[in-house]
Amino acid sequence: MDINQVNVEAIVKSVLEGMLEQQGSAKPEGAGTAGPIPATAKVAMLTALEKYEIKEFPIPELGDDDILVKVEGCGICGTDAHEFKRDPFGLIPLVLGHEGTGEIVKMGKNVKKDSAGKELKIGDKVVTCMIFKDNPDITMFDLNKQNIGGADVYGLLPDDEIHLNGWFSNYILIRGGSTVFNVSDLDLDSRILIEPCAVLVHAVERAKSTGILRFNSRVVVQGCGPIGLICIAVLRTMGIENITAIDGEQKRLDFAKEMGASRSINFKDYNGIEALSDAVAGCFGGHLADFAFQCTGSPAAHSNIYKFIRNGGGLCELGFFINGGDATINPHFDICSKELTVVGSWVYTLRDYATTFDFLKRAKGIGLPMSRLITHRFPLEQINEAHITNLKMEGLKIAIVNE
Ligand SMILES: NC(=O)c1ccc[n+]([C@@H]2O[C@H](COP(=O)([O-])OP(=O)(O)OC[C@H]3O[C@@H](n4cnc5c(N)ncnc54)[C@H](O)[C@@H]3O)[C@@H](O)[C@H]2O)c1
Ligand SMILES: [Zn+2]
Repeated sequence: MDINQVNVEAIVKSVLEGMLEQQGSAKPEGAGTAGPIPATAKVAMLTALEKYEIKEFPIPELGDDDILVKVEGCGICGTDAHEFKRDPFGLIPLVLGHEGTGEIVKMGKNVKKDSAGKELKIGDKVVTCMIFKDNPDITMFDLNKQNIGGADVYGLLPDDEIHLNGWFSNYILIRGGSTVFNVSDLDLDSRILIEPCAVLVHAVERAKSTGILRFNSRVVVQGCGPIGLICIAVLRTMGIENITAIDGEQKRLDFAKEMGASRSINFKDYNGIEALSDAVAGCFGGHLADFAFQCTGSPAAHSNIYKFIRNGGGLCELGFFINGGDATINPHFDICSKELTVVGSWVYTLRDYATTFDFLKRAKGIGLPMSRLITHRFPLEQINEAHITNLKMEGLKIAIVNE
C-alpha cells in the first residue's frame, strides 16, 4: 500500500481512537457522546499576575446532570483584564473566561433541556450565563455572596479538583443545575459576542423604561468602544435611525457609521463644551438629542453629556462598570430645570440574555458588521499575548478561538 500523507493521518487517527476507547473515555454512555473525546483537557490557568500557564487535567466521568462542552472560543472581558493585572477577587490560581461557547460532546442521562426549555443534544452549541438563575431580576454577581458556591459563574470560580471550570480551555464541564442556553442557530462570532451584547440590550431596555426613546428619537451615543458600537447596533435593530456617535478616535467613529450611526462627531475637533453642544445640534437639524447613552468610563464625558440633551429628554449612564471617580454636574441646569430623566444600567438579567440571541439574529439580518467587532483572534496557547493586546487597547473585542 502506498502510504501517503493522508493515509498516515488516517492510521494515526484510528490508532488514537482505539487507544481512547480502551481507556473507556470514548464509549457512548448516558445520553451519549459525539465520538472520541480525549482523556485530558487543556486549560489556561492564571497562576500569577500577568501569567497564564497551559495545564492539562483529566476529563472526569460525567454526573447524570453534567454536560461536557468542546470549547470553540471565548472573548476576553474587562473582568478578565482586571484579574490578569491585579486579581482583585483574590482567586489566583484560576481558569478565567466567561464569554465562551462550544459544542456539546457528552451529556449525563438526565440532561434533556436548556435553561429556556429548549432541547439539548450532542452537537448543539451552547453558552453559559453569569447571572444567578434563581432570581432573574438580580443583575449583579457578587463574589462575596454565598452564591459563588453555585456553579454558574464559569471563568470566575475558585479552582477546584476538576479544574475544567473556565472557558479559556479546550473542554469545560458544565455542572448539573447551571444556566446553559442552546444557541445552535447563532454563528461562532455571534455566540462569542453574546455577553457584551446583553449589556446593551439591558441598557436599551432601561432607556425604554423612561418612555422617551421612540422610533424617530434623536439619539446620541457617546463613546465608540465595543460598548458604544454595540449600543448603536441594538438601536438600529429597533428601527432607531437618527443616531449621532461621539468619540475622539476617527477609526472608531468610522466604524460607528458602518454600524448604523447617521452622523459622527470627533470631540477633539471642538474647543469647549458649547462648540461641542452646537455640533450635536448641527447633526439633528438644530435640535439637541431626545435621548443619550453615555458609553465611556470618563467622568468628564459624563459631565459633558447633559449639554447634548434637550429639555425633557433622557439619559442612560452605563459607562462605569467600575468606579471611575466623581463627575461634576450642575443640578439646576443639567437635571432640575431641564426635567431630565436619568437611568443607570449595569450588566443584564437572565431575560435580557434570551433577548440578546434574537438581537444578534436581527443584527445579522439587517447586515450590521457585528463580526468585525472581533478584531483579534488568538489560539489558547497565546493567551498571554491576547491579554497584552487587550490591555494595549489596540483592537475592539479580543477572542481566544480554538481550532
Ligand atoms: N454597564 C455595564 O454593565 C458595563 C458593562 C461593560 C462595560 N461597561 C463600561 O462601558 C465603558 C465602555 O466600554 P468599552 O469596552 O467600550 O471601552 P473603551 O475604552 O474601548 O471605549 C470607550 C470609548 O470612549 C471614548 N471616549 C473617552 N472619552 C470620551 C469623551 N470625553 N467623549 C467621547 N468619547 C470618549 C474613547 O475614545 C473610547 O473609544 C467602560 O468604561 C466600561 O466600564 C459597563
Ligand atoms: Zn464579560
